[in-house]
Amino acid sequence: MNMELTYQSKIAEYLQIDVEQVSLYWKGRVALYTMLKAMGVGPGDEVVLPAFTCVVVPNAILYVGAIPVYVDINPDSLCCDVEQIEKAISPKTKVILIQNMLGLSVQVSEIIALAKKHSIFTIEDCTHGFGGKHQGVFNGLRSDASFFSSQWNKPFSTGIGGMLVVNNQELLQSVYSLQSKLIKPNAKDRFILFVLIWARTYLLKGFTYWTFLRMYRWLSKKGLVVGSSSASELEGIHMPKDYVKGMSKVQCRAGIKAISTLNQVISKRKNSGISVHEWLTSQGKTAVPTEHLAQHAFLKYPLLVRDRELFLQQAEKGKIPMGDWFISPLHPVLDSLKPWGLEVSNFPNAVFVSKHIVNLPLDLPVHRLINFLELYKNEII
Ligand SMILES: Cc1ncc(COP(=O)(O)O)c(C=O)c1O
Repeated sequence: MNMELTYQSKIAEYLQIDVEQVSLYWKGRVALYTMLKAMGVGPGDEVVLPAFTCVVVPNAILYVGAIPVYVDINPDSLCCDVEQIEKAISPKTKVILIQNMLGLSVQVSEIIALAKKHSIFTIEDCTHGFGGKHQGVFNGLRSDASFFSSQWNKPFSTGIGGMLVVNNQELLQSVYSLQSKLIKPNAKDRFILFVLIWARTYLLKGFTYWTFLRMYRWLSKKGLVVGSSSASELEGIHMPKDYVKGMSKVQCRAGIKAISTLNQVISKRKNSGISVHEWLTSQGKTAVPTEHLAQHAFLKYPLLVRDRELFLQQAEKGKIPMGDWFISPLHPVLDSLKPWGLEVSNFPNAVFVSKHIVNLPLDLPVHRLINFLELYKNEII
């Protein structure tokens, strides 16, 4: 069996689905783009999505020529409530995008029922949620299709990488046809990725974390390494020329290895997540509503803090690799979001959360996290 098929089979085995449902991409956003194309989404169509996401999500929608229609989030769940989604539906709505923010699945069945009522497709953005379940079903298996990411900090990592799971059989042929046209990663891409995966595995330890992170972000912004996003994706609606790329063997090899230990990783994160959750609740701080956590896979724990800059500085001093994801409604763009059609004044919850959120890493010994939180508890909202 070739490397790609082995990796697809491992994913299918993990999710208990048919291997034919799984396809692999250079990044998660390419899986989303492919799915939108396969669904026939194009100019004039509308796609409903959260106003609290990564900018590459509306980018994929805009690259196919469609219109992103944003919905504010519920600040407790960080996801969109079904009632708000319903208000955003119009005769032009072709897709509702359901996002498992930090892996949290909320009202998925209700949103899918709403979409079915209006004959609208659903796509789950499971980039944070591989391995988690909602109401006993793995994230990503209820909607017409779902996409996952295996980029650096995701449930498991292939450096960068993405997968698509198609649940609606009628869409499979179009996906296969688009897949056969994907650009193959070139030797330079593969080599740089191989070096980065090696560096991350062997060099990225607690004390080097910030130095490497800053260097990686700087290099990837300059286009000097295979980065999470290129400058053109962050500066406006310019589709990079080699955007529609497939997955390389380097990524498949890393994925096969990572998925074999995923259950242990999830279990460790879950224990830490529950301890953090209990501590926050005992202190009367904002915590994710408990009912959302039953089968959650806990990638990072979202925390709202008063002064994020100060909190992140303290974390760096305390050697806690605190995540700074979603510092903008369309992370990581801090300038005007107008090119993406998002007027911030219409989305107060997304603006509030993106001003105050930090993401607590759950791969550390939990006593270190709680000791740190104890020290700075007055900063936590
Ligand atoms: C919510 C969300 N959706 C989509 C993506 C895109 O994933 P990828 O970087 O694999 O394209 C990300 C990336 O971090 C994300 O956070």
